[in-house]
Amino acid sequence: MQSLKLTRQDTWQATARLNKCFLIKTINALSVAGMLVTLLSGCPQNAAAPGRVGTPTCLACHDGRSAPDKREFLDGVHAAIDCEDCHGPGLGHVRAGGRGGLLIANPGESPFGHTPALCSQCHEAEVAGHALTAHAGAKAASCNTCHDVHKTGAMPFSTPNKTPLGNAGYQKLCGECHETQTEQFALSVHATSNVATCAACHNPHLETTFTAPPENNQLCQQCHGGFFLGLDTEEAVDIHTGDFHPVDPAGTGASRCVSCHMVPLRANNQARSPHDHTFNTVAPSDTAAMIAAGLAPHPNSCAGTLGCHDAGTPGSGEPFDLNSIADNETLQALYEQIGLIPEKEFQ
Ligand code: HEC
Ligand code: HEC
Ligand code: HEC
Ligand code: HEC
Ligand code: HEC
Ligand code: HEC
Ligand code: HEC
Ligand code: HEC
Repeated sequence: MQSLKLTRQDTWQATARLNKCFLIKTINALSVAGMLVTLLSGCPQNAAAPGRVGTPTCLACHDGRSAPDKREFLDGVHAAIDCEDCHGPGLGHVRAGGRGGLLIANPGESPFGHTPALCSQCHEAEVAGHALTAHAGAKAASCNTCHDVHKTGAMPFSTPNKTPLGNAGYQKLCGECHETQTEQFALSVHATSNVATCAACHNPHLETTFTAPPENNQLCQQCHGGFFLGLDTEEAVDIHTGDFHPVDPAGTGASRCVSCHMVPLRANNQARSPHDHTFNTVAPSDTAAMIAAGLAPHPNSCAGTLGCHDAGTPGSGEPFDLNSIADNETLQALYEQIGLIPEKEFQ
């Protein structure tokens, strides 16, 4: 068993809470309702506290025979705390023989209320950040959707000892709900060369969900800013994005990587559309071919990207009509001037 590292709590905070907790526990130890108040207060408890039986007793049943197997807990990141720190006193549950899961709190029943409050005792920053995301706002994914606190690394698909999830693990986890992005991502060089996972760009505990801002190219330049991938200087980006796109990603959006490399997949309501996670650019000639075939045209990297060369959504660039073959052919000529990755220069 590893010891509890209080890396996430300031000592003064812990002390203040323990003082408050001493009062809360003393007052509430007398009734079942009171014990619930203690539980919800988030105060750490110990095996000797009223109504508590201790982790070994829980595991006597929770070994996979008559009740769900939680033995892995003892090898995991939460081994230093007790089952009852999160589930509350279990004496009643045990006396009832555990029957039907009676008389024990299951935080999973209140994933957007109780669960974050519980985790917040020790993971304040992650809870505060997550609360600002679409996952919390849409009541779509809470802490226990992505994390199994009873497992070694507390991540559902991690291998033992906190190994970060691999690409396959992320695709399984996130792909349950984000099918389009995940299918496309699996085709991208980022996945096939195993150089980036969903988490390289997305952090579910930050309001933006991004590991760095996409609007000023920092997100991509975490890796593509370096000498290795050839876009290390402003000049290099300028050449790559064509003479008409001087570097100004955060202003006009010219040279913003995601505008060209992550086009919206729908022409309508582009802001809400999924964005291309193959990271391939889409040539205007592809759009022209779709129109010629009588299909609804797919936005391309020039026209149809929000804010750029699309007459439907005027931005800073020259507007073109996404639905016009002639306009797409004009754009194609410009497109072909772009995509020249500068030669790597050895100094
Ligand atoms: C006497 C055996 C036994 C002991 C000891 C025991 N449990 Fe259980 N527990 C069960 C059984 C049986 C279930 C119901 C399983 C099912 O329905 O699949 C259960 C269900 C649960 C549930 C799910 C409740 C729900 O609403 O779904 C939780 C949480 C739980 N136990 C936690 C604990 C904790 C924490 C301890 C130690 C304090 C503990 N158990 C000790 C037998 C036991
Ligand atoms: C850090 C807090 C925490 C600790 C410690 C903890 N649990 Fe849980 N437990 C949860 C949460 C959150 C859920 C609901 C989400 C889920 O199912 O994983 C849960 C759900 C459960 C369930 C019902 C889900 C199922 O698999 O049927 C059981 C049973 C359970 N816990 C038993 C235990 C036992 C036994 C221990 C100690 C060995 C323990 N828990 C320790 C937070 C905790
Ligand atoms: C009483 C304190 C406590 C509570 C409550 C708690 N945790 Fe933890 N958690 C810890 C400690 C301590 C670690 C180990 C930290 C470390 O090794 O840096 C940890 C580790 C983790 C990790 C792995 C972190 C890493 O760096 O590998 C995850 C994920 C996690 N907890 C999720 C949760 C979730 C989700 C909840 C709520 C259901 C929760 N925890 C509740 C104390 C707690
Ligand atoms: C949509 C999935 C998802 C949700 C929802 C989620 N997490 Fe995470 N969490 C992750 C991923 C992915 C990582 C690993 C990030 C990495 O490897 O850099 C992680 C890492 C962590 C860690 C380890 C420290 C860190 O930041 O790397 C903790 C602690 C944690 N999460 C707690 C929580 C808590 C508490 C909640 C609920 C408020 C929560 N998470 C909600 C996916 C999620
Ligand atoms: C249980 C379902 C579920 C899981 C699992 C899940 N998500 Fe989500 N996610 C959603 C829903 C629902 C939304 C909100 C969609 C909307 O508002 O249109 C969302 C929104 C997002 C957004 C957009 C955020 C915004 O502000 O618009 C990103 C990025 C995202 N998820 C990434 C991830 C990643 C990365 C993972 C895996 C670590 C993941 N999600 C796992 C359901 C899920
Ligand atoms: C975690 C690092 C990382 C991040 C972040 C990243 N990339 Fe990459 N990317 C790479 C690496 C490494 C390669 C080269 C892989 C190879 O050639 O095997 C690559 C390759 C590419 C390719 C070439 C595809 C091909 O067919 O050759 C494109 C396009 C690309 N990335 C676009 C982007 C964009 C746009 C962003 C930002 C949204 C981004 N990348 C963010 C690491 C990253
Ligand atoms: C190289 C960086 C990068 C990687 C890797 C990445 N994404 Fe994204 N993702 C983005 C950017 C940038 C956006 C926002 C695009 C925009 O709004 O212009 C985004 C948007 C999203 C959204 C919001 C809806 C949308 O499509 O705009 C979801 C959901 C999402 N990503 C899920 C995932 C999942 C799941 C994975 C892994 C399978 C993943 N992403 C991998 C950069 C990335
Ligand atoms: C104005 C549109 C545009 C912008 C902005 C843009 N690119 Fe490109 N990029 C392209 C085109 C076009 C290609 C060539 C694609 C092809 O040939 O299939 C390309 C190719 C690439 C390649 C692949 C090179 C290869 O070897 O195959 C990478 C990597 C890349 N871009 C990264 C980036 C990054 C990182 C940014 C932001 C700093 C960025 N791009 C900004 C249009 C753009």
